[in-house]
Amino acid sequence: MADIVESREVSALLSELTTPAGRADPYGHYTRLRELGAFVRADDGTLIVTRFAECAAVARDHKLGKMPVELLAHAGLADWADHPALYGYFTSLLGINPPDHTRLRRLVSSSFTARRVQALRPATERMIDELIDEMDGAADFVAAFAFPLPCNVISELLGIPPADRAQFQHLVQDWSAVLDDITPEVLSKANPAAKAVREYLAALAAERRRRPREDLMSALVGHEEAGDRLTEDELLTMAGLLFAAGFETTTNLLANGLVALLEHPEQRPDLVADPASAVQELLRYDSPVQNIDRTALEPTTVAGVTFEPGDRIVAYTGSANRDARRFPDPDRLDLRRGDNTSLSFGGGMHYCLGAPMAKLEAEIAFPRLFERRPGLGLAAGAQRRDSLTIRGFDVLPVVTQ
Ligand code: HEM
Repeated sequence: MADIVESREVSALLSELTTPAGRADPYGHYTRLRELGAFVRADDGTLIVTRFAECAAVARDHKLGKMPVELLAHAGLADWADHPALYGYFTSLLGINPPDHTRLRRLVSSSFTARRVQALRPATERMIDELIDEMDGAADFVAAFAFPLPCNVISELLGIPPADRAQFQHLVQDWSAVLDDITPEVLSKANPAAKAVREYLAALAAERRRRPREDLMSALVGHEEAGDRLTEDELLTMAGLLFAAGFETTTNLLANGLVALLEHPEQRPDLVADPASAVQELLRYDSPVQNIDRTALEPTTVAGVTFEPGDRIVAYTGSANRDARRFPDPDRLDLRRGDNTSLSFGGGMHYCLGAPMAKLEAEIAFPRLFERRPGLGLAAGAQRRDSLTIRGFDVLPVVTQ
């Protein structure tokens, strides 16, 4: 049986992580937590893992899943289904367990294929060039590039027309605040946002049923496999998840990645030489998603620790990516690091469905940005997103010459 560390230092480190300073730079805290032990216990009983091997084992163990909705009552969320923001999350792939997860993931995977993503390459290149054309002089990189690119790409995929796209940044930001903290204040913004996104997607689905096109929404409404298809409720939850997961995280990959690249100008040639490997390293170095949570569904033992049904675990994947047991000199960005597959897209059955799409965007965007705007640099006034789970920026001022 592995040791579980419970101490005042653990409590202090974990609570510091939720302060603005801890969120701005969690990496020193993570290092200390990794040194304290493979498993530490938070004051509310949750087990926290911060080392690579244990985080990977937690992500891959099928007996560790998403919190069953019956248990949400114990977490003070008995009325979850009445909140559109929670309903859209807890009934999505990100909130459910087999066999429902297996069925829904199979249905969406056969429409959201690698071929469909690769087919977006020319449109993605065109969008990147258009955004760079407009980014001249001083700009907020988030508003001018990192938000519109993934929003436009996922909108293109789903079939959302250009004129409708801009409204979604704030809606999705307000909605995804529930990933960090579920309070009445957060819900008061998250619920109307989730409702607005769902209503928009319902109208789009109805339109595509009448007049199908080549887009993913048309594929999802028409798709049937082995006599099975998505219900209307499942379809709207799935489209909402793809849409929300599709750009917030990628926005932050672009913003975090840009900062890392600007802080390491000497590595620019390595980016051009191998963009795919460079993007893998940027994902490892400063991941847009810093942790994933699990609840034990059945008794199981992971890395020497036994879990009983209902036990909660949070795997700090952002910390695992900086674990020296896995990556030599982990706090150093090294675009030539060969073996750099990180846990930024999770692992196991919930492994990110959009990973190929996020990578495609970043692999084209970064080399193109530096080729076309060689004078790109950071300017004063950056504002970090106040979140530990989603790591990124709300505002990132840059100059382009
Ligand atoms: C850099 C960008 C991205 C990052 C860092 C990221 C990260 C993640 C992570 C860590 C998970 C696993 C969560 C867990 O295990 O609890 C996940 C799942 C998921 N992601 Fe992403 N993601 C990104 C982009 C995207 C994009 C572009 C899409 C869609 C177009 C997407 C769709 C999804 C979906 C649908 C799931 C749920 C899969 C499941 O539960 O079976 N993601 N993502």
